[in-house]
Amino acid sequence: MYEINRAAVIGAGTMGLGIAGQLANAGVDVLLLDIPSEGEDRNAICKRAIERLLDESQPGLTHEKNLERITIGNIEDDLHKLASIDWIAEAIVERLDIKKNLYKEIDAVRKPGSIVSSNTSTIPIALLVNDMPHDFQKEFAITHFFNPVRYMQLLEIVRGEHTRQEVIDCLDHFNESRMGKGIVLCNDTPGFLGNRVGVFAIQTALHAAFQMGLEPEEADAVFGRPLGIPKTGVFGLYDLIGIDLMSDVAKSLVSILPESDVFHAVSAEIPLMKRMIDEGHLGNKGKKGGFYRLEDPADGTSKQTLDFASFSYRKFDRNKPRGAVEAELAGDFTLLLAQDDRYGRYAWEILSNTLCYAAELVPDVNKSLVAVDDAMKLGYNWLQGPFEMIDAIGVDSFIERLKGENRRIPEFLRTASGKSFYRVHGGALQYLCADGTYTDLKRSHGVRRFSEERRTLKPIIENAKASYFALPNDLGLVEFHSKANTLDGESMQLVAEAVQHASKNLNGLIIHNDAQHFSCGVNLEGVLGFVVNEDWEGIDRFLDHFQQTCLSLKHAPIPVVSAPSGLSLGGGFEVVLHSDKVIFHANSVTGLVETLVGVVPGGGGVKEILHRWNDREGDVTKAAWQAFMNIGYGKTARSPLEAEPLAMFREGVDDYVMNRDRLLQTAVDATLALSADYQPTKRPTLEMPGRDVWQEMQEWLAKTQQKGFLTPHDVTTGTQIAMIVTGGDVDASTSMTENEICDLERKAFITLAKTDETRARIQFMLEYGSPLRN
Ligand code: NAI
Repeated sequence: MYEINRAAVIGAGTMGLGIAGQLANAGVDVLLLDIPSEGEDRNAICKRAIERLLDESQPGLTHEKNLERITIGNIEDDLHKLASIDWIAEAIVERLDIKKNLYKEIDAVRKPGSIVSSNTSTIPIALLVNDMPHDFQKEFAITHFFNPVRYMQLLEIVRGEHTRQEVIDCLDHFNESRMGKGIVLCNDTPGFLGNRVGVFAIQTALHAAFQMGLEPEEADAVFGRPLGIPKTGVFGLYDLIGIDLMSDVAKSLVSILPESDVFHAVSAEIPLMKRMIDEGHLGNKGKKGGFYRLEDPADGTSKQTLDFASFSYRKFDRNKPRGAVEAELAGDFTLLLAQDDRYGRYAWEILSNTLCYAAELVPDVNKSLVAVDDAMKLGYNWLQGPFEMIDAIGVDSFIERLKGENRRIPEFLRTASGKSFYRVHGGALQYLCADGTYTDLKRSHGVRRFSEERRTLKPIIENAKASYFALPNDLGLVEFHSKANTLDGESMQLVAEAVQHASKNLNGLIIHNDAQHFSCGVNLEGVLGFVVNEDWEGIDRFLDHFQQTCLSLKHAPIPVVSAPSGLSLGGGFEVVLHSDKVIFHANSVTGLVETLVGVVPGGGGVKEILHRWNDREGDVTKAAWQAFMNIGYGKTARSPLEAEPLAMFREGVDDYVMNRDRLLQTAVDATLALSADYQPTKRPTLEMPGRDVWQEMQEWLAKTQQKGFLTPHDVTTGTQIAMIVTGGDVDASTSMTENEICDLERKAFITLAKTDETRARIQFMLEYGSPLRN
């Protein structure tokens, strides 16, 4: 009975703007209101706000044209427009009195059967609506989004005492399928789940670092990737969010938690941080820096750290504790916990407290441990939720270590003694309930996480970098699982074997994983190894195998569908490019970025992009120029909509979904549809533009360099790309097969790999994670 076709957002601040942007991304018309401005333009607040949606550093829109779906206004002149709205999302300041007044005004104009929700982080639902009419309370809920709304998957939905189940169902379904959110249904308890556990973990990490005398670099090197937590760590996160804002979040959370809550133990203000706020060291947003700063804002290598004793900045120490590096490389945080040094103790201090805190929340705050794990994975980007982490440590080992320290054992942890929180039973993944029984983990229809499914499957073929599984309906699936899913000979060997196996035995092949990034490209350390050893034959063999594997995907007798999310760059994107169909996530980042490290795509990527442009333009010279420009500049797209004009997304062939948890099912459906009467792809030869166009491109490079837009090595790299896309020193209209163009890619790659400048670019990228412009 409830259906959302038109939405309104009230409050055009950080959150309201984000929600409005994501509604527009979902194809929903949205009315955005804020308070009227003084002066001529009464909608000035919203007008200024929506410009921020186009912010280059973090765009809230998947495409700027989505802005058309947002109508702006103010709550005095335009409130009556709410009469036609199905869902009114309130995201104004966190002040109970102001929110309550607004609800009265909304109720006077809204239509019966419309849903109203609040984005509050701290105010209980009972307080928000206790003096509102019963009909309003029935259609009211809390929808707590996370910042930035486009990118953070978690949405916590809180039901009030009188909220109708149909209202919750409608919000749940709409936000999951249209807005791309992972829904966690929460009870009306302080901080709900994500912030309750997330802020506790951060505060624990902060206080422990000060108590143990760790430098920010040391703390962040531990409380980050090695523990499966975003690399900002704790000090970096404070800088990112703002030292003042983050301190306020902690304060407001602690103000609503009962005194018995152990959160209070990690909530005291740290004198140094008070001084930082007083003196304007607010983090990245301020001019003075925070725990870290760039001495020269234009130079990513000039990072400095605040020295606590002298309150001045010193050089950032790039050396990471060895144990942390090892744990990160092994993808096993328990290695760090086992270490008897201050880093191991720091990791244990944070995790033991946070995991126990999470265990205390079940069943009173939420009856399901899956909700707690989901909240941390989707709202704080942890690789594993608290209960998955306890399973990794081993429930009994965890309890033993706590006992050894005379620590309290949470009741729910005791229940798990001798068991695990998750188990595979009868082919299904199950989780432990508070009464000690297990229940099947079921997701909504269409939502599938391969990381969960893989636990119930046995790979047909596997190695350290990738695995190949059979799925129902006679489909195969290749999953990459190396660090950042970088690709090397082993990953590609598995793909090659999987294509062979699937071609003989199955109806189709899917390439998918639900890690943060589908693939960040070819493993650069491996490439550097070839370069340092001057092993040019080795590079040639590696690239040849990569190309042939990609070609085998393209020409397989069965359909191949890729379903990437996060980054698919360089070699990772070359794999995607060779699929019959791609199901992207709405935030997928794609591009051939090899020039940033001074090489060219050498896995068939240049060839593929050239063919695609030729299919579009029907003119190989125009196609060559397009490929030359896009690959030369290493252009990336931050959504499939941005990828379309770059020929990286094919309208009518590829598709995208808003919810990354729907990628797998959508890919399965697409593969089955294609397999019905599948005809393998046949590729004609290309009549290459030849040496005259190559010459023109080199002239363009020289001119652009003269204008100061290209560095000498950009010209060298560009010349090689131009050689591939034109065919090089050949007559116009010389026919080339796919394999012949692949040969040119390898030749260009090796020519560049032999230069000192390319070696310097690769080394710089590995050290600083940013490109060197030499
Ligand atoms: P903000 O301060 O960035 O924006 C609030 C906006 O509301 C401002 O544009 C203000 O002009 C407008 N406003 C104030 N009174 C209004 C009224 N009576 N009618 C219409 N507009 C009015 O705040 P932010 O950060 O966007 O927070 C909004 C809500 O979301 C709060 O309830 C907050 O607790 C919650 N929240 C904030 C998160 C964050 O990371 N900032 C995360 C999750 C929830």
